[in-house]
Amino acid sequence: MRRGLLAAAALAAAAGAGAQVAPAASVAAPTVEAVPPTPEEGRRAYTSFCVRCHGINLAVGSSAYFDLRTFPKDDKARFLESVTKGKRQMPAWGGIVRPDQMEAIWAYIGSVNGW
Ligand code: HEC
Repeated sequence: MRRGLLAAAALAAAAGAGAQVAPAASVAAPTVEAVPPTPEEGRRAYTSFCVRCHGINLAVGSSAYFDLRTFPKDDKARFLESVTKGKRQMPAWGGIVRPDQMEAIWAYIGSVNGW
C-alpha cells in the first residue's frame, strides 16, 4: 500500500517534470482469448520442467529417459496421460504444468520432430 502511494507520487512527479507516462491502455490486463499454444511457449515450458531429463532439443542424454524424438505423433492422448499422471520413474506433472503449457509442449515436440 505504502509502496503504491510512493510509486504514484513518483509518477506524478515524473509527469510534472514533463516525462512521458505510459497510457493506461498499455498496462491494462490482456484480454483472455483461446489462442492455440505456440511451439515457442512450449519450448519455454519444456526448458523449465522437462529438459533436465529429456535433454536440450529433445536430445536425451541417457536411455533411462524416454527419447521424445521417438514419441508417436498420433498418440497425443497418451502424451497428455503420461505427463499428467506420471509414468514409472517420471513424476506426475498434472499439478505443476498447466494444461495450456502441456498443449504447448506437445506443439513444441511436434515442431522439433517435424510433424
Ligand atoms: C525427473 C526426470 C524427468 C522429468 C523432469 C521429465 N520426465 Fe518425462 N520421463 C522420464 C522417464 C524416466 C521416463 C520413462 C518412463 C518409463 O516409461 O519408464 C519419461 C517418459 C516420458 C514420456 C513417455 C511416456 C509414455 O507414455 O511412454 C513422455 C511423453 C514424457 N516423459 C514427457 C515429459 C514432459 C512433457 C516433461 C516435462 C513436463 C517430462 N517428461 C519431464 C523422466 C522425466
